[in-house]
Amino acid sequence: MELSIDRSARIPLAEQIRQRIAAAIESGALEPGARLPSWQDLAAQLGVARGTVRTAYERLDAAQLIVASRAAGTLVAQRPRARARAREAQRADPGSFLETYQEMTQGPAFFQMGVPAAETLPKTLLARIRAHAIRAEIGAAPIYPDPRGEPGLRQEIAGYLAVARGIDCSPSQIIITGGYGAGLGLALRALGLEGQKAWIEDPGFPFARKGLELARMSVAPIPVDAGGIDIDHGLRHAPDAKLAVVTPGQQAPLGPTLTLERRLKLLDWAAASGAWIVEDDYLSELQLTGRAAPALASLDRAGRVIHIGSFSKTITPALRLGFIVVPAGLMATFAEAAACLAPPPGPAVQLAIARFMQEGHYLRHLRRTKRAYAAKRDDLLTQLRRHFDADHLIATGLAVLLRLPDGAPDLAMAREALAFGMFPAPLSAWYASARGRRSGLLLGVATSPARELARSCDRLADIVKRFV
Ligand SMILES: Cc1ncc(COP(=O)(O)O)c(C=O)c1O
Repeated sequence: MELSIDRSARIPLAEQIRQRIAAAIESGALEPGARLPSWQDLAAQLGVARGTVRTAYERLDAAQLIVASRAAGTLVAQRPRARARAREAQRADPGSFLETYQEMTQGPAFFQMGVPAAETLPKTLLARIRAHAIRAEIGAAPIYPDPRGEPGLRQEIAGYLAVARGIDCSPSQIIITGGYGAGLGLALRALGLEGQKAWIEDPGFPFARKGLELARMSVAPIPVDAGGIDIDHGLRHAPDAKLAVVTPGQQAPLGPTLTLERRLKLLDWAAASGAWIVEDDYLSELQLTGRAAPALASLDRAGRVIHIGSFSKTITPALRLGFIVVPAGLMATFAEAAACLAPPPGPAVQLAIARFMQEGHYLRHLRRTKRAYAAKRDDLLTQLRRHFDADHLIATGLAVLLRLPDGAPDLAMAREALAFGMFPAPLSAWYASARGRRSGLLLGVATSPARELARSCDRLADIVKRFV
């Protein structure tokens, strides 16, 4: 708690302290239930006599603004109006990016996209491994960890990528990050791409688009078709770009795998023009039909691909854990940028995931998850086909896309569904440009309900049919 007092003022110090705390409670800055420092600690912090703070606290207590108890310490008293005000202040402007983010971090809700199923997580095992890792972190010397990440985790990831994604890299090329977003930011900084032009997939991941804009890059939206991002379109309309951000494995959100011909063309363009490619491998091998294609980075002979992986979909986004595979010649540059601008999460979470991988739990978890999600997707498709034409239902990545007529208000439908605890994502929000913008609802498979599926689909169909 930051609290300033004025020793030259005529108002006694105890009264100044009382006024400051009362004002903070009144404004909602100190919320009901918040713990105040003990009067001994606050007196030491402010450099005043203990009796001065005690007097202030006694007056606040008498005014029922705080509650003091021996067991729980001194807490701000419950005040319903203050709580409502605080919530109001946190609400973002309608339609703003902050609102999108707040919606994304809400939940859990049925059909929520981009988050894994709660029931497939090996919770007990993860809790045990993580508790062990926290003890290891606390027991180690309190020194700065390696800014590239824990060597044990980097080694496990390199081994996993060789087997599952066809990438031949050494652990020294791996840098641990706070998820995909942190990896993208680090790559843009390390490569000095601020101010340049980047190809983005249209439709594509809105957070990547916003991230590039925040890095002062201009974005060139490139359409996506059944073969993935249309490389020829990019070559024709934005050959001067210095970066392409792509999801070659399973395009987000439409799902196609980038064809081999396009992969080679993209790599040739990058090698010839000195451009970079960020490969967003957010789903890794988590593909529900057939086997996942090898990563684009596995074909990269010129060292132009920055491969970024994440544990958000394969384990849980709450880990905030991902990694970059850096081309061999750029290791020092990326390590420097990581050390100065984007250090990885603390060692405990990294040590835990290293052990999870090393003991074979990760591969087992992925195998089980794939099977469980494929069954959920089939059930969801069966239920949706009772209401919608099969041609309008497309399995994409970890979602089912319900295509709607162009211009249909998918955002309004998604908002309405939220009132029923359902959270489909509106497809139109994934488009950067109005040209070619399509409407649809993306229904997350992982969060599709097991028991109330038929009823949820009935509700969803009611909502959709009211609008179209
Ligand atoms: C296309 C895409 N890339 C990356 C991510 C994951 O990002 P992070 O690792 O920051 O959680 C997501 C999550 O929704 C995504 O949809």
